[in-house]
Amino acid sequence: MAALIARTRTLRVHGNVRMPGDKSISHRALMLAAVANGSSRLEGLLCGEDVQSTARVLRSCGVAIPSLQRQIVVPGCLPFRSPEHALDCGNSGTTARLMAGLLAGQPVEATLTGDESLSRRPMRRVAEPLRRMGAGIEFPAGGDTLPMRVRGAALRGHEFELATASAQVKSAVLLAALVGRVSVRVREPSASRDHTERMLRAIGCGVEEGPNGIDFTPVDRLQPLDLDVPGDPSSAAFMVALGCLASEGSLRVSGISLNPTRTTFIDVLRRMGGDVATRPGRSQLEPIGDVIATASAGLRGTTVAGSEVPGLIDEIPLLACLAARAEGESIFRDARELRIKESDRIAATVANLRAIGVDADELDDGLVVVGSDRPLRGRIATHDDHRIAMAFGILGALPGNAIEIDRPTCVAISYPDYWSDLARVTA
Ligand code: S3P
Repeated sequence: MAALIARTRTLRVHGNVRMPGDKSISHRALMLAAVANGSSRLEGLLCGEDVQSTARVLRSCGVAIPSLQRQIVVPGCLPFRSPEHALDCGNSGTTARLMAGLLAGQPVEATLTGDESLSRRPMRRVAEPLRRMGAGIEFPAGGDTLPMRVRGAALRGHEFELATASAQVKSAVLLAALVGRVSVRVREPSASRDHTERMLRAIGCGVEEGPNGIDFTPVDRLQPLDLDVPGDPSSAAFMVALGCLASEGSLRVSGISLNPTRTTFIDVLRRMGGDVATRPGRSQLEPIGDVIATASAGLRGTTVAGSEVPGLIDEIPLLACLAARAEGESIFRDARELRIKESDRIAATVANLRAIGVDADELDDGLVVVGSDRPLRGRIATHDDHRIAMAFGILGALPGNAIEIDRPTCVAISYPDYWSDLARVTA
């Protein structure tokens, strides 16, 4: 599919969509299963390309991960073996950064590489804390990007004060401490997603969250996981936004993680006038439930800044697209991290909004979008960034717009069935 062109003047949404497994949890589930004492049962893993990268990298370290499907069993395998070849992390920052931590505390040596986009992303943020714990981390010619050589070592505990809220950096440190069997404390300027902490508790480690940060205490025996991976709230966000933008109907996304470190986009949608209801269900490690989004006439612009940002960092391109159809101006600030995601998401979002006729401007640390109801037409340069493709796909599904996405297949990173789900709820 090269384009999504809405043919009718009204958009009616309907149905119940099951979301793909949460990407962050799927990476962590494979990694923790790989180091547990025994076999873990994992159900509902995301089978997208990023998680395939984690599975491939772990297999190269000797972990017997079967081909990814609805339910798999992963035998623990500590210590890993040093891989014969470089570990290709593909497009996945979570694979590269968390694997660096997981390797740092074992007697192994490995080189992490990635695709063009990942090879531009900064790795010093994980290299420095891991070096402070005693691991050897090297970049060619003193750089800060992949390839990154990790030489595992006997680690020492440490106390970290992170300059930026980053679940990837926090998790790299916690995973290094887990396999290196040392205590660490990590403090962040504001809360980032806490899946690693929840899963570490599930395998028996001590993880306390207090005013001074997160205190991790290692244990000798790591219990295997028995985990149903919930649906991904970041994937659900696209469907929820579409439900709010529709002219009629409602749609339900079921079985997603309602972890409060991931659902800030719902608060923002409601503030914009979106009719979004949550129906909590059973919990397992994570609070899980359904979200129902109903056609909401007259969305309003909003401001997103400060401590709200880490909880919706991946949803900002989508919220910016929503802001293009909301009344007035929307401002996104304190989101400089967006410049170093799979693409420079500030530049990509603004350039694409302008390309289809929206008034938008870049800020150093965010963007400004002015909403309108004029028809939006043009071609989106995704830069192979899945979230850019999906965000503009929502605008493409709206009546009167004619938006072409240059490389729609890049959604396979996190939501392989995105285009067919979108077609189904709008058919
Ligand atoms: C992720 C954390 C976030 C997020 C990324 C996945 C994770 O990155 O943007 O998509 O799984 O830990 P940072 O922690 O670097 O902000």
